[in-house]
Amino acid sequence: MGETAKIEIEGKTYEFPVVVGTENEKGIDIRTLRDKTGYITLDPGYPNTGSCLSGITYIDGEKGILRYRGIPIEDLAEKSDFVEVSYLLIYGHLPTKKERAWFSNGLTRHSLIHEDLLRILSDLPPNTHPMATLSAVVCAMSAYYPQFLDPDLSKDKVDALILSMLSKVRTIAAFAYKKSIGQPIIYPKNEVSYCGNFLRMMYGVPAEPFVVDPDLEKVMNLLLILHADHEQNCSTSTVRLVGSSRANLFASLSAAILALWGPLHGGANQKVIEMLELIQAEGGNYKKFMELAKDKNSSFKLFGFGHRVYKNYDPRAKIIKNACDLVLKKLGVDDPILDIAKNLEKIALEDSYFIERKLYPNVDFYSGIIYRAMGIPVNMFTVMFALGRLPGWIAQWKEMIEENAKIGRPRQIYVGNVKSPYVPTDQRK
Ligand code: SDX
Repeated sequence: MGETAKIEIEGKTYEFPVVVGTENEKGIDIRTLRDKTGYITLDPGYPNTGSCLSGITYIDGEKGILRYRGIPIEDLAEKSDFVEVSYLLIYGHLPTKKERAWFSNGLTRHSLIHEDLLRILSDLPPNTHPMATLSAVVCAMSAYYPQFLDPDLSKDKVDALILSMLSKVRTIAAFAYKKSIGQPIIYPKNEVSYCGNFLRMMYGVPAEPFVVDPDLEKVMNLLLILHADHEQNCSTSTVRLVGSSRANLFASLSAAILALWGPLHGGANQKVIEMLELIQAEGGNYKKFMELAKDKNSSFKLFGFGHRVYKNYDPRAKIIKNACDLVLKKLGVDDPILDIAKNLEKIALEDSYFIERKLYPNVDFYSGIIYRAMGIPVNMFTVMFALGRLPGWIAQWKEMIEENAKIGRPRQIYVGNVKSPYVPTDQRK
């Protein structure tokens, strides 16, 4: 038996195996804890609990390290593109030329959605949040693609489903945006790249040809790569939990979109811009808001700061911050809220409250500034996060299905009423 952990309970010592990961992370395997001791563990929000073994993404929160299938995020951000990173996450290696051609052709072939699905876009109220629209249409896809509902799909069908979801969700996102502003939808064109098509479908108009700006396409690839996976975060854990009941991938992705929507998770990128605009509207007094963020009696939170895992600078935030200046300069955009963001970051990183709690900018702190400079509306920011996270969600779902994971069903400690009698209505006080 390898390394073990000993736990003493009521005078008796129990031993449990220690699991050691590729990067020497260690966990106590407590799968037999309750059977052996009658005890369970308690860890609300799971900061100390591993839900699975995974080979997809590695994060070292103390050192600010992020790698997809072992490759550092900095290298992928500089040298790769989103389609290649999607293949890497899902299939476990960088694609050969032949694999890349198969994958790209598949994304092109699956880029349209059943026309009936457009009715959902039209029937939802125009002010519906695009995250609600995205989740609703992804769930409704289960009615139009019944061939993917079988829990035991063949490899070919899983490949077809993966290509469909990666390509169609991008189309749905752009269609949802167009519907929300009352403009006609723009259909994808086969000869245009994944990101180029998204830009076309977002900004194109039927009356004139759309030329994809290569700088914008490059920035779009960068932002989607940086959001592509992040191990067992809230929305990815949702994918795994829903998928563990052998519900289909439409159900897992629809649920993940809704989990991501929350302001503590992917919804933070929208909240960051709203926060920075509020500070700007109040005269740019960012020091006042910094004090509010530290005040326990204030509900104000410094969105885009803090992270469950990173207790160092989020490497993604570093890359996006560096890209901000470059992108805004290339786009000829001078956005005063970027200065507010940089000033906020500067004083936060020097403030004992943030230093003691190891609160650094996370991926959401600067991303919205670039999205805004690209002309993406604030209520679409979290949709951009979802588009980026799609390959990660799919990769984690595929890994969970392939390892035939058990259904997720945590336990609890009951703290409610002891056994009580039923009291008839006329005797209740
Ligand atoms: C994402 O998990 C992932 O990997 C997520 C993600 C991904 O790629 O999937 O990285 C994407 O969701 C990034 C996070 C986006 N959310 C925000 O920016 C919202 C603001 N941040 C916080 O809500 C918070 O930092 C969380 C939710 C991100 C993390 O929360 P934790 O780990 O549960 O930590 P906590 O809330 O218990 O905070 C610890 C302390 C508390 O103070 P004390 O009670 O110890 O005095 O730090 C304080 C918190 O009050 N704190 C903050 C703060 N974040 C934490 N105080 C002020 N402003 C903040 N932003």
